Amino acid sequence: MNPTINISEIPAEELIKSAMEARKKAYAPYSGYRVGAAVLTNELRIYTGCNVENAAYSPGICAERTALYKAVSEGWRKFRAIAVVGGSEEDTLETFAFPCGVCRQVMREFANPEDFLVIVAKNTADYKVYLLSQLLPESFGPENLSR
Ligand code: THU
Repeated sequence: MNPTINISEIPAEELIKSAMEARKKAYAPYSGYRVGAAVLTNELRIYTGCNVENAAYSPGICAERTALYKAVSEGWRKFRAIAVVGGSEEDTLETFAFPCGVCRQVMREFANPEDFLVIVAKNTADYKVYLLSQLLPESFGPENLSR
């Protein structure tokens, strides 16, 4: 059975627009793969991020984690949804950019996987919505360590 996805309370188009705007700031001179993300807090604030690469490679960070860590560093720790746009194209995106495994685990740290929506988009009219639990099933999270 498919899980229930309720997109109606989420400003999906605004999130996608914000992610597209953030993608313009991507610093990806090595891969040429530019990503933008916009995360929605439980309080309905939007934080954006882009990928930031590095000549030494491993210090680079994904757009999703940039957005999440910006929000967390400002004091917001609960999230409802994230929109992600990415690709090697200059402008019009032809594929969906799914979050990497590390970013899925970071989402898991700060969200309920049965409630948190991951929106992957080519543009505001062409997007797909998943629950985090679909992209990261049987996950490990903070509760597993709580005493
Ligand atoms: N990237 C992201 O920003 N998000 C992802 O979920 C996957 C990968 C970035 C990292 C790197 O700068 C480039 O895309 C190629 O891997």
